[in-house]
Amino acid sequence: MMLKQHLFFVLYGICGTVIKEAATKNKAKGSQGQFPVTQNVTVVEGSTANMTCRVDYNDNTSLQWSNPAQQTLFFGDKKALRDNRIELVRASWKELTISISEVTLSDEGQYTCSLFTMPVKTSKAFLTVLGVPEKPEIIGFSRPAVEGEDVTLTCITSGSKPAADIRWYRNDKEVQGVKEVNATGRSFTVRSTVHLRVNRNDDGAAYTCSVEHITLNSTPHQVTEVLEVHYAPQVEIVHSLIVPQEGQYFKLECVSKGNPLPEPVLWTKDGGELPDVERMIVEGRELIITTLNKTDNGTYRCEASNHIGTNSDEYVLFVYDPNALTPHGPDHALIGGVVAVVVFITLCFIIVLGRYLARHKGTYLTNEAKGAEDAPDADTAIINAEGNHAHAEEKKEYFI
Ligand SMILES: *[C@@H]1O[C@H](CO)[C@@H](O)[C@H](O)[C@H]1NC(C)=O
Ligand SMILES: *[C@@H]1O[C@H](CO)[C@@H](O)[C@H](O)[C@H]1NC(C)=O
Ligand SMILES: *[C@@H]1O[C@H](CO)[C@@H](O)[C@H](O)[C@H]1NC(C)=O
Ligand SMILES: *[C@@H]1O[C@H](CO)[C@@H](O)[C@H](O)[C@H]1NC(C)=O
Ligand SMILES: *[C@@H]1O[C@H](CO)[C@@H](O)[C@H](O)[C@H]1NC(C)=O
Ligand SMILES: *[C@@H]1O[C@H](CO)[C@@H](O)[C@H](O)[C@H]1NC(C)=O
Repeated sequence: MMLKQHLFFVLYGICGTVIKEAATKNKAKGSQGQFPVTQNVTVVEGSTANMTCRVDYNDNTSLQWSNPAQQTLFFGDKKALRDNRIELVRASWKELTISISEVTLSDEGQYTCSLFTMPVKTSKAFLTVLGVPEKPEIIGFSRPAVEGEDVTLTCITSGSKPAADIRWYRNDKEVQGVKEVNATGRSFTVRSTVHLRVNRNDDGAAYTCSVEHITLNSTPHQVTEVLEVHYAPQVEIVHSLIVPQEGQYFKLECVSKGNPLPEPVLWTKDGGELPDVERMIVEGRELIITTLNKTDNGTYRCEASNHIGTNSDEYVLFVYDPNALTPHGPDHALIGGVVAVVVFITLCFIIVLGRYLARHKGTYLTNEAKGAEDAPDADTAIINAEGNHAHAEEKKEYFI
């Protein structure tokens, strides 16, 4: 009886172990690879995000997707949350894929795929939503500026995520700006400023703000502001002849720059009005003398003004006598030649004399300085030498 009972328990124990082991083995086999697999997703706002959850070996256990707020979106092929943007793409024992259309920045977060085994197995997928920067705007330029004014250009773009990058170009050459990033909700407002004290060279300069972002691929958003700088006129008289002669046609042009362009320009002669002669015509910025006359000699002045300032230039007209200019005979050339030779000889003489004097003076000074050699020591020698030098200087003056 005792033995029988004992045997039973032994057998029971063995059997139990075998059964248990088999069960464990079976379970292990069944749940091998039975876990959900997901991937992080990155999309641009406004587009559609597909969230996929896969299970390689599934014994018909249900899958579920839930959002960052732990709300169930889909349980198998059953829609759980009322949101028109969320739709089922594929539902099987091996896969549950849903799509979220018109994604906003607030859809970002950690989504969970759950496999309802015992215990439940989950996999997290992070949905990253990128914010597209808005078209940039340049502010702070009250056109037109006046030369010497400090101008600050600020380029602003909002809505980017991550924060956009702003680059500045002045006539296609990059210039440095100062960037400032502020978080506004889930996206960023980025602004960049450039400062400059404008001068006339900045008139017409094009400043381009270029917004670069991963969502824009390699086509940045750009906006350009062309500077307009007002500055005082700058006037220069250009003349048509180098040697104006009597009877010739002569033209002076008053070339003026300035913004606003100074118009008209004012011509005067010797501080007064232009003589009222038919030969003299003013056409815009040009002063034309149809037939030059000796009486036209004088100082001509062109003056230009705009609301910033006034500037002028002068031209001294000297009307040559055409008869005096062309030499009549050989005597002119002869006199010229003789004068040239005399000047040359005189110059040579001066140079030779100068060299002779310089050399002579040098020898004289050296001889005097030799007296220093008689000194007992270096210090005395220097003193002696200095003394002699001072002496020499007196003599030098005398010599000259
Ligand atoms: C989402 O899945 C659907 C169906 O497979 C497909 O047509 C669409 O292109 C996918 N969208 C993205 C962003 O992968
Ligand atoms: C899984 O479901 C399919 C039908 O959807 C059924 O034919 C199969 O027997 C099920 N398998 C298990 C292990 O429940
Ligand atoms: C998914 O995104 C989260 C949060 O950004 C990150 O911690 C995790 O490492 C990512 N996983 C993979 C597989 O990239
Ligand atoms: C942006 O942030 C800076 C500090 O980083 C702050 O000084 C500035 O006032 C902010 N600008 C706006 C418009 O919020
Ligand atoms: C210059 O003007 C004077 C007086 O107006 C006139 O008598 C003279 O003929 C002119 N000379 C020439 C070369 O035109
Ligand atoms: C004008 O210049 C000429 C030199 O060519 C001179 O002979 C003449 O006297 C000058 N006339 C006046 C009005 O100054």
